[in-house]
Parts: sequence; structure tokens; C-alpha cells
Amino acid sequence: MTSTIDINNKFVSPEFNETDYHQHKFFIELFNSIQMRGCESYINGLELPDFLLKSTLNTILPICYQKYPFLLIAYEWLLKESEYLAESSDELMEKQYNLPKELFTTMLGESTLMYPKYTMALWEKGATNLEQAQIDMLDDLIIKADIKDGDHILDIGCGFGSALHYILSKFPNSQVTGLNLSKQHCQYIRTKIKDAQSYFSSDHFTLVEGDFNTINFEQKFDKIISLGVFEHVGNLTNSFKKVSSLLKDKGQFFLHIITIKFPHSASSVFLEKYIFPRFRVWGYENVPLYNQNLKTVNKWFMNGSNYSQTLTAWLRNFDDNQEYLKTLDYGMEYNRFRRMWRLYLMWCIAYFDACNGEVLGNGQYLMTKA
Ligand SMILES: C[S@@+](CC[C@H](N)C(=O)[O-])C[C@H]1O[C@@H](n2cnc3c(N)ncnc32)[C@H](O)[C@@H]1O
Repeated sequence: MTSTIDINNKFVSPEFNETDYHQHKFFIELFNSIQMRGCESYINGLELPDFLLKSTLNTILPICYQKYPFLLIAYEWLLKESEYLAESSDELMEKQYNLPKELFTTMLGESTLMYPKYTMALWEKGATNLEQAQIDMLDDLIIKADIKDGDHILDIGCGFGSALHYILSKFPNSQVTGLNLSKQHCQYIRTKIKDAQSYFSSDHFTLVEGDFNTINFEQKFDKIISLGVFEHVGNLTNSFKKVSSLLKDKGQFFLHIITIKFPHSASSVFLEKYIFPRFRVWGYENVPLYNQNLKTVNKWFMNGSNYSQTLTAWLRNFDDNQEYLKTLDYGMEYNRFRRMWRLYLMWCIAYFDACNGEVLGNGQYLMTKA
């Protein structure tokens, strides 16, 4: 994709100019290799108190966002759409989503109503705890996505089913389907299907264990939602095409993802290598530009401080439950995993906090079948 027309009919190029990238390549590589070296030293045992790590990140990131945003184009592949819809799915499952489900239930929290939710919570409405902030986020989604009782809804990358379970609690006549590739997440959901207290035990819920890249459905949906999944999508054009093919006429797609207010996509070498293989953060304004089969009718930028507060709560849960968490199997020595995971959470807190949350936040897009 080289250029297109945006929703206001302005001619825009969603891609950072490749010549600009090559001009800055030396500094991009230098910046990212220093970053990787620092992160790997930390993972391997370098003693660095949290406050020092935080203050270093809090000093560097605002300068980077304001003056040198191109430094976050950590890889050349960020300049182009990928061949597959979602990228490196198997490696992503192995390094991230197939980690023991107990890690996530402990870190993200769970209750009878709110299953572990691995995306931003909404604190701006005054929530004083994580569960309430996640409920506020889903109430906000229900309004923006115009969910109605009786809707047939598909959730792409449904995680532990938090959004669908909450929707079923409010709209008992809806028919909801969750798609997920993670064995661990699906196992969690299957235990809920057998739990009489769960809304998933009704015949209004269907779980599909499968890959967004290859899955097909016979039925079409009134609403499709996807929260925190398209960070793994490298080809928006073809993904929107696929989503459109799954919608009924006049159907709507509600997309919620991490976005950045840059003219280009961004990534992080540490997070890409150790936490979320091949992840990319799309430019907030660029997302609708890839729409050929869907029309963006509304969009919202949610301030990143909502995410830093959410991540701070996850970090607290992680730290408070060390005795239990160290008994789980991560496929590596626990101390190494703990350092890697704490660095991931602290790194993300700083990324979302920088510049008062105005640069890196979450983008929400309401799209209709064009
Ligand atoms: C960050 S989590 C968000 C989960 C959930 N939407 C939420 O809000 O809690 C991303 C989810 O997408 C799923 N996922 C990632 N790539 C996928 C793919 N190619 N096909 C299906 N699911 C995928 C992961 O297994 C995980 O459950």
C-alpha cells in the first residue's frame, strides 16, 4: 500500500517514507542495539532498582516521542504490510499466550463476573480497583459498539472470554462466539462452560479454537469485536477484508488496539524478541486508511495513562504472588522469567505514561460494512 484516501477525503500516505527510514537507519539500529543490550543485561541479572529503571525510561521516552519518533521504527518490516494477516502466530502462542493460564488469572485478576481481561481498563470514570475499571471499559464498549440484546457477536482473539461473558450477563438473548488460538485460554473457557454459575454454560456461547488467519465461519455476524489482538496483525487491508466477509449487511466491527500518534508504525526490540513476537503498534490516524471493505464511522483515542494504571495493577498482582507464581512451569528458570516479565510490565508502564499518555494509547474504531 502506498497511498490512499482517508475518511475526510484527504490524500494521505500511511507509510513512513522509506527514504527517510534509510537516512535514519544508522541511528535507529544504534538506539535499538543499546536498548537490547541494556534489557538483556537486566534479564541476565544486572541489579538495577525499579526507581532507577523507571526514571531512566521516564527521561528518555518523552524525548524520543517528541523529537525522534523514527527511533521506534525498530524493524524495516514495520514499513510494509505483511504477507499473513496475523504474524508469527505459533511463536507468539509459545512465548506468550500458551504460558500457564494461572499466571494470567493471578496477574490479571478474575471474579465470577469478570474473567481475566488482558487489555486496557478504563480508570477515567473514577474506578478505584481493577475489576471496576475493567467493567467500566466494557460498559463503554457496549455503548460505542451499539451492542443490543439478540445480536450475534463474534469476538476475534477473545482471550479468557471476559468481554463475551460480560455481554452475556447484560444481554442474555445474544448469541456469542469466541475465537482464540491459545490452548491455555481455551482450556480456561472450557472449565467455565462446565460451570453452572457461568453464562458460558448456556447454549448462547460457542468457543472456536482456531487461527484468525485460516478460520472460516458458515454464519455471518451482526457485530464483530476484537480487543488487543490486531497488534499481532501485520496486514490490515486483508484482515479488514476478512472481517467484512464475516459480517451481515449493515453489520459492524468494533476494533480496539494499542495505537501511537505517529505517521508510522512502531515496535520495541525487547518486547518483540522476548514477549510478543512480531508485534506492531499501528499509527492511530493510519488504521482507517487501510479500509477498503469497511467504512470507519467513528474513532476514539483513549489516553495511555489508563493502560499504565492497568499495568501497574498487574505488576502489583505479579509481585504480591511470587510464592505461587514461582511454582508454575515457564519453560525456563523462574528467576530469569521473573526479571523478563517485570521488565515487560515496567517498560510498558513507562511507554504509556510518557507525554501524559497523549502519544501511546489505545485506538478504538467503529466500522461498518462498506
Ligand atoms: C492481548 S490478548 C486480548 C484478549 C481479550 N481480547 C481481552 O481483551 O482480554 C490477545 C488474544 O488474542 C489471541 N490471538 C492472538 N493471535 C491470534 C490468532 N492469530 N488467532 C486467534 N486468536 C489469536 C491470543 O491468544 C489472546 O487470547
